[in-house]
Amino acid sequence: MGLKKLAAGLALTASLFAMSAAKAADIEVTHWWTSGGEAAAVAEFANAVNKSGDKWVDGAIAGSGDVARPIIISRILGGNPMGATQLNPGHDADELIKAGLLTDLSDLAKKEDWAHILRPASQLASCTVDGKVYCVPVNLHSAQWMWTNRKVFADAGIEPPKNWNDLVKAAPALKAKGIQPLAMAQGWPVGLLVGDLIVAIAGGDNFVKVYKDRDLAVANGAEFGKVFQAVADARNMVDQKAVTKQWNEAVGLVISGKAAANVMGDWAGGEFQVAKMTPGKDYDCLPGLGVTPVLNTGGDVFYFPVVKDPGLKAAQLKMASTLVTKEVQVAFNLKKGSLPMRADVDLAAANDCMKKGLEILDHSKAVFPNDVQMLDRDSINQINDLMTNFFSKPEITPADAQKQFADIIKAAPKM
Ligand code: GAL
Repeated sequence: MGLKKLAAGLALTASLFAMSAAKAADIEVTHWWTSGGEAAAVAEFANAVNKSGDKWVDGAIAGSGDVARPIIISRILGGNPMGATQLNPGHDADELIKAGLLTDLSDLAKKEDWAHILRPASQLASCTVDGKVYCVPVNLHSAQWMWTNRKVFADAGIEPPKNWNDLVKAAPALKAKGIQPLAMAQGWPVGLLVGDLIVAIAGGDNFVKVYKDRDLAVANGAEFGKVFQAVADARNMVDQKAVTKQWNEAVGLVISGKAAANVMGDWAGGEFQVAKMTPGKDYDCLPGLGVTPVLNTGGDVFYFPVVKDPGLKAAQLKMASTLVTKEVQVAFNLKKGSLPMRADVDLAAANDCMKKGLEILDHSKAVFPNDVQMLDRDSINQINDLMTNFFSKPEITPADAQKQFADIIKAAPKM
């Protein structure tokens, strides 16, 4: 190579380096992943973004989604946007998209063929408004799981439950030994439990009929009547004085053996992993509360607010791309307890809970939408408040609670 060519080559390398150095940006990322398992998982995203040359500035908001969502949305609306933010796939960002405050990722999605590499299709569909893609789905989380501590049952001389009904049967014997049968956290976890009981008892089809199609005959009918009766059983299994503030504290009671079981989404699996417990040996994870194995298509997505700084803009697109690379999908989801968005990844290290989830996702039809994909957040919050009230006040009868629930469904705006 002539000297001239070498010099030109060096100059090009230097200018490319300068360009990429100039493009490196600090990117503030808001999310509500603050429990042990969640923090371990989000660290994988942070490492990947840092490795890509930009700097992840962590904007964790403690207190779970109900606290974080309004903060995130008002910051963007108020003109003080972060670089990127977690939200759930659903309708939480509809207003922001309408106001033109979120970046259109359609070109990137097309270039990387997200429509074909990410599955199930529901998650990208939740990111798509009027044919444009506004978020990147990073995982599939399902809410319908029961978690039990094997040692608690072994010590009590009781067979570990295979499903919700077994737990209800075992409850008196557990209580007699001073063990709380069901650990419970306040707020949305009560709504989650009721949603899971709807699916386990009235069936996934009826759940969709009520939440999506607003079928009031089903909401007021006999199958849902059984659900509200089951919620009354559940409240008898909970020690009201031991109700925790956060979902992960209730999971913690199962991990430490102070409670026998908890009903929570598969993100609870991240807590058992941090505690170095093994499914099938130390604990059981039972999809569909062990009644019928099902999954719903909940999960997490990242949105990128519109920003002026071109360097930050480039970093946002690079981050969106990084989060769905094979390596990052595996590293993050193994720790998060969720299922990866891609089928073409190496899941040799998957634990039994993830294997159960993948089996349902890839080989069964029992996969249905999450509540937030069918109903607006305000109605969901009203349902959560109603269930919290019902749960803590034995004077509210199952029939009263069912009637109030059906009234919320009736008044919910069409999506
Ligand atoms: C959900 C989110 C999960 C999970 C959970 C509890 O909204 O999708 O990733 O961590 O909240 O914080």
